[in-house]
Amino acid sequence: MSDLFTPLSLRGTEIPNRVMVSPMCQYSCQPVGLATEWHRVHLGSRAVGGAGIVMSEAAAVEPRGRISPNDLGIWSRAHADALAPITGFVRSQGSVPAIQLAHAGRKASTYPPADGYGPVHGDDGWTPVGPTDEPWPHDEPLATEALDQAGIEGVIDAFREAAEFALEAGFEIAEVHGAHGYLLHEFYSPVTNAREDDYGGDFGGRTRLVREVTAAVREVWPDEKPVFVRLSATDWLPDRESWTVDDTVRLAGDLAEIGADLIDVSAGGVHPDQGLPDTGPHYQTPLAEAVREANDVAVGAVGKITTPEGADEVIRNGRADLAIVGREHLRDPYFTLHAADALGRMDDARVPVQYRRGF
Ligand SMILES: Cc1cc2nc3c(=O)[nH]c(=O)nc-3n(C[C@H](O)[C@H](O)[C@H](O)COP(=O)(O)O)c2cc1C
Repeated sequence: MSDLFTPLSLRGTEIPNRVMVSPMCQYSCQPVGLATEWHRVHLGSRAVGGAGIVMSEAAAVEPRGRISPNDLGIWSRAHADALAPITGFVRSQGSVPAIQLAHAGRKASTYPPADGYGPVHGDDGWTPVGPTDEPWPHDEPLATEALDQAGIEGVIDAFREAAEFALEAGFEIAEVHGAHGYLLHEFYSPVTNAREDDYGGDFGGRTRLVREVTAAVREVWPDEKPVFVRLSATDWLPDRESWTVDDTVRLAGDLAEIGADLIDVSAGGVHPDQGLPDTGPHYQTPLAEAVREANDVAVGAVGKITTPEGADEVIRNGRADLAIVGREHLRDPYFTLHAADALGRMDDARVPVQYRRGF
């Protein structure tokens, strides 16, 4: 039986424990898309804290794929160079550096949460793209462009090239961001995809873009390194035609065949009308469980996993292969070391030599 401190081997990559730092935007890049000292300290301290995988925030594969003007990017060598010292440091602490490759689609060009999430109009903003020209329903929506065939091919190429830059930067795991109402989710959800070409219509058409993007990343990502895909397992819109858990179970199987090694199971984000369930502890873990039960692919559970005992339970009971911890890592960069202490597993933890007298 596995537990929180059982290493996980995916392809040739050894992950020392089952805790992953969930991707979390820091809205702190200056100039455009470049990682800063903030990212080095933020990601570095979670590696010092012992997490098995330290995942970057959403890194845009092209400038118009940023959510906000301050998002991280990975569309050039300069972006890779800015990230390289961070991956080196994360690895030096025994953690596995991972990057989330993202495109914000029609949810692009917005202000960071601290500035109210609203659309950025004018010179500081840009034109979002989506499956159709239907904009995200802001109070003052941004004119949005529907991607044509050439535009779709451009997006797939951008993901492929971003993966190449990520590899140069030293990342071990690439995660395709296919969740939260951003571009890939906008294509697979019937709520946002009304296309009538090969990238719309039935399940096969709507999921084509996320499958082709995953295949493109897999193509350039080395065989011995894992590829993850984050999906929204449900649109939380049960009263209309929308994306469901059954759809996710099916798509996870298709992605595994293409070479995805782990499905990171999140939910929601495609439309503001969504009806969130009770977002209590582990509220999304049953979604991960459903994907894991039906498929021969590793899964990660995310959503209000905040305690050592809770994270351990998810792994021990075979509900998921990774416990993905977001906001608790903002409160406690040393979550994994504290979990080892609470669970009596300090022998399996990696306390940096500089800190041993503190533990
Ligand atoms: C500040 C912040 C930024 C986030 N940025 C991202 C992101 O870049 N990519 C992503 O997939 N999810 C993002 N999320 C969602 C988290 O990764 C996670 O799925 C969510 O917070 C639920 O997990 P938690 O309850 O452990 O925080 C973000 C969440 C927060 C709080």
